[in-house]
Amino acid sequence: MQPLPIMDGIEFVGSVDWDRRLFDSLIPLPDGTSYNAYLVKGRDKVALLDTVDPIFWDQLREKLRDVPRIDYVVVHHVEQDHSGSLPLVLEKYPAATVLTSAKARGMLVDHLHVAEERIRVMADGETIDLGGKTLRFLAMPWVHWPETIVTYLPEDRVLFSCDLFGSHLATTDMYVTDEGLVYEAAQRYYAEIMMPFRTVIKGHLEKLAKLDIAVIAPSHGPLYDRPAFIMDAYRDWVMAPPHNTVVLPFVSMHGSTEIMVRHLTDALQRQEVRVKPFNLAVTDIGKLAIALVDAATLILGTPTVHLGPHPAAYYAAKLAVALKPKLLYAGLIGSYGWNSRATEQVVELCQGLKMEILEPVICRGLPLAEDLAALDRLASVIAGKHRVRQLTD
Ligand SMILES: Cc1cc2nc3c(=O)[nH]c(=O)nc-3n(C[C@H](O)[C@H](O)[C@H](O)COP(=O)(O)O)c2cc1C
Ligand SMILES: [Fe+2]
Ligand SMILES: [Fe+2]
Repeated sequence: MQPLPIMDGIEFVGSVDWDRRLFDSLIPLPDGTSYNAYLVKGRDKVALLDTVDPIFWDQLREKLRDVPRIDYVVVHHVEQDHSGSLPLVLEKYPAATVLTSAKARGMLVDHLHVAEERIRVMADGETIDLGGKTLRFLAMPWVHWPETIVTYLPEDRVLFSCDLFGSHLATTDMYVTDEGLVYEAAQRYYAEIMMPFRTVIKGHLEKLAKLDIAVIAPSHGPLYDRPAFIMDAYRDWVMAPPHNTVVLPFVSMHGSTEIMVRHLTDALQRQEVRVKPFNLAVTDIGKLAIALVDAATLILGTPTVHLGPHPAAYYAAKLAVALKPKLLYAGLIGSYGWNSRATEQVVELCQGLKMEILEPVICRGLPLAEDLAALDRLASVIAGKHRVRQLTD
């Protein structure tokens, strides 16, 4: 295992995790992921930018076999998928100094028990000259932890962006080759990790737009030699108005709620509203998160179980609220048997988002013609609201 050259004086020493299928014990990873780390070699000094998830320490050690000296280890982000191997790197290179943000210092002590005297705090905009290669550190809090920084290397016009712009994709391609594939992998990443911090990221994108960037080197997934591809995508996800789309996560034990879901899907389709139904018994929750990035309306389909929504529907609603998408409207449909408090419980859950709550359509047992008519009316209300807002695809 050898470092892979990226450009003169910059090498890739990260690891590709082909087999990982779940991130944060939450989001499925159909295409694996990678933990990117980079060596930057100046005339005088050598810096390692990030480490790898500790399960890949053996690979990193092997790649650093012929690197006798590391002067600086840049910690962009304390999370263990990038800093978990840091204590081992610092043991191997006892003269190396950690460069990071003030916030990260305490976090490195707390999370990884790094000795405080090995850490040097870098202010926003501060630089380190490696000899012909300058590392300029930029504060980038809340992408997606409070301590995060990125590094800009002006001589090569490279932005080491850490989790920002990252994608969950295992590949041997150094740079993006299939933009469609990376778009979805990066959107999956954005939806789970970044979307709750949309407003902060908007400011970061404006700050980064002022830099002359030829290559973005993130901490997950391939590098971007066409930075506009991912920066434009982020601008769209963060700032553009939501689309004429209803996301419809649902669960049904005996089919009654499912009849309602299929009827509403059909009614909305006839009203020219795009619908994305997700049967929570079988769906990839990451696909649901992706769909929430630009949906205008969320309708939850759930039967009543022990007085409230089915736990799978409650979970989906809880996740949707936590991810803080651009949703404008939310509603509930479903079947119950004798007594339900599902509506109250879901409405309470939705208080965290500034959405208009639509009139629920709840029926006892198997839906009747009048229940289906109520769903037709709900479809008309949604289509009307989307039209007034002039939402498009
Ligand atoms: C485990 C379980 C618990 C239930 N708890 C309630 C309840 O507390 N209140 C109620 O009105 N119905 C309750 N029901 C009945 C269902 O809500 C009802 O059968 C509904 O029509 C099921 O819709 P589905 O066909 O979409 O699964 C429960 C059903 C099951 C299987
Ligand atoms: Fe992270
Ligand atoms: Fe990460």
